[in-house]
Amino acid sequence: EGLGRFRNFPMVDFTLEAERTAFPAAIERVRARAGGTVPLFINGQAVETGDFLDSYNPANPAEIIGRVCQAGVDEVDRAIEAASAAYLSWRDVAPEARAAVLLRAAQYLKDNIHDFSAIQVLEVGKQWDQAHADVAEAIDFLEYYAREMIRLGKPRRMGQAPGEMSHLFYQGKGVAAVIAPWNFPLAISVGMVSAAIVSGCPVVYKPAGSSSCVGQGLVEMWKAAGLPAGVFNYTPGRGSVIGDYLVDHPSVAVIAFTGSMEIGLRIQERAAKVGPGQQQCKRVIAEMGGKNAIIIDDDADLDEAVLGVLYAAFGFQGQKCSACSRVIVLDAIYDKFVSRLTEAANSVKLGPAEDPANAMGPVVDKHAQENVLRYVRIAEQEGNVLVRREVSDELKASGCYVPLTIVDGITREHRIAQEEVFGPVLAVMRARDMSEALDIANSSRFALTGAIYSRSPANLERASREFRVGNLYLNKPSVGALVERHAFGGFKMSGVGSKSGGPDYLLQFLDPRLVCENT
Ligand code: NAD
Ligand code: ALA
Repeated sequence: EGLGRFRNFPMVDFTLEAERTAFPAAIERVRARAGGTVPLFINGQAVETGDFLDSYNPANPAEIIGRVCQAGVDEVDRAIEAASAAYLSWRDVAPEARAAVLLRAAQYLKDNIHDFSAIQVLEVGKQWDQAHADVAEAIDFLEYYAREMIRLGKPRRMGQAPGEMSHLFYQGKGVAAVIAPWNFPLAISVGMVSAAIVSGCPVVYKPAGSSSCVGQGLVEMWKAAGLPAGVFNYTPGRGSVIGDYLVDHPSVAVIAFTGSMEIGLRIQERAAKVGPGQQQCKRVIAEMGGKNAIIIDDDADLDEAVLGVLYAAFGFQGQKCSACSRVIVLDAIYDKFVSRLTEAANSVKLGPAEDPANAMGPVVDKHAQENVLRYVRIAEQEGNVLVRREVSDELKASGCYVPLTIVDGITREHRIAQEEVFGPVLAVMRARDMSEALDIANSSRFALTGAIYSRSPANLERASREFRVGNLYLNKPSVGALVERHAFGGFKMSGVGSKSGGPDYLLQFLDPRLVCENT
């Protein structure tokens, strides 16, 4: 009790000298201890395996951030066993006490925010401000879900019938497998894991291969918060080796997944099958990809719109599920907008994220680089190249860079208008009027984020109704959702309709029970 109302952790302020100097110092500290073996963490113990995956700096793959032990099926079994054993006691710990652990974890992240940001700069190539925002979002999830569990933890009186006292309350569903992506490597992991834990569900957490060192930060965080052994288990491992096994395991009750549509659909299909001895229906939370559009109305404020589109399309190299990959421009303003956008894109500074002057850096790893380069070629074949910016030959030879690419002449049938690239490739599309713009915007199987820049209240109102995505932003970029204020998540092929950082999220980890007493 005495917990104040939830507030978002503030964004970094680089006008303060202390902040400007804290970052290079943290990068130096983190770099000095990088490169060592990263063990698993099962039932409160570090566990080493003989199989390693090197996680490297995408700006310089020769720099190893960690030699990450890989879990095989035996380690997954042990982690699930530990989590199952912990479930019976953790489920019945009072909601306030579970929430208190999250609040201590949040404090640990606040106390170490620069180190948690620096490791992201080195391991996944996030710009300083965005790495800080990711840690801030992780703090927000902890603070928000702690309060949410306290709210949901109070039994609710149902009905007023004389002669009976009826209450509805919740209990954690069981062991949760949390399978995370690399692009918001701390925030999304902490969000899914803390939601499960505060709900009373012990976790087996599998980070993505390219961000497993950031993922190890959760081990330190939960230790500092005093979480009992077995409630959180860290099992990095190859998706191809342990992914299906974890999903199929009969003792797993909830699967919280964020990642690509292909893997999300595979998980949903497999989780529907009942394994030997399985005691419960599995719940799948799947948050998947996007093909997000920004509409530029003919009366839009172009100063705002150009900056908003650039940030949404190329921030963190376009590797956000919320990134803008289609900009739909009304005919009357098309030439003016395209020329302003091209000019601005030509002045974006490119290079390693470690240098805060650079707005766009390398993509996350060699595999992502190959994939994006393939889509750059598709974009060049399907459209007219407006912008193709590359880093210097020297940088190109040393890191996982891809060109910042903008093409126009794209229509809804093109692959570049339909498939998620997950990189800095933007398609410009022309629309006759607002009806056609909305039609194009909705002509995707994804429905995650979207935005519109317009000065017309009628068009903004119409977009609110007809631009059918999970998160729509009016005169704001399509990225940068904040916990609570912008509860986040999509539908159609973008996800199952859950909203992380929103009031319905914890319910997915909970089974409702009702007790009625004849009085
Ligand atoms: P991915 O689907 O390749 O991998 C996600 C996780 O799934 C990784 O941990 C991976 O190892 C694991 N995995 C691989 N094969 C598996 C299997 N057979 N069974 C179980 N797990 C398996 O995605 P990614 O490249 O890490 O992340 C990028 C994708 O994530 C993009 O499509 C992006 O749009 C999406 N994303 C969505 C949201 C959202 O909130 N909707 C947020 C961030 C990222
Ligand atoms: N929550 C992230 C954003 O909104 C994906 O950009």
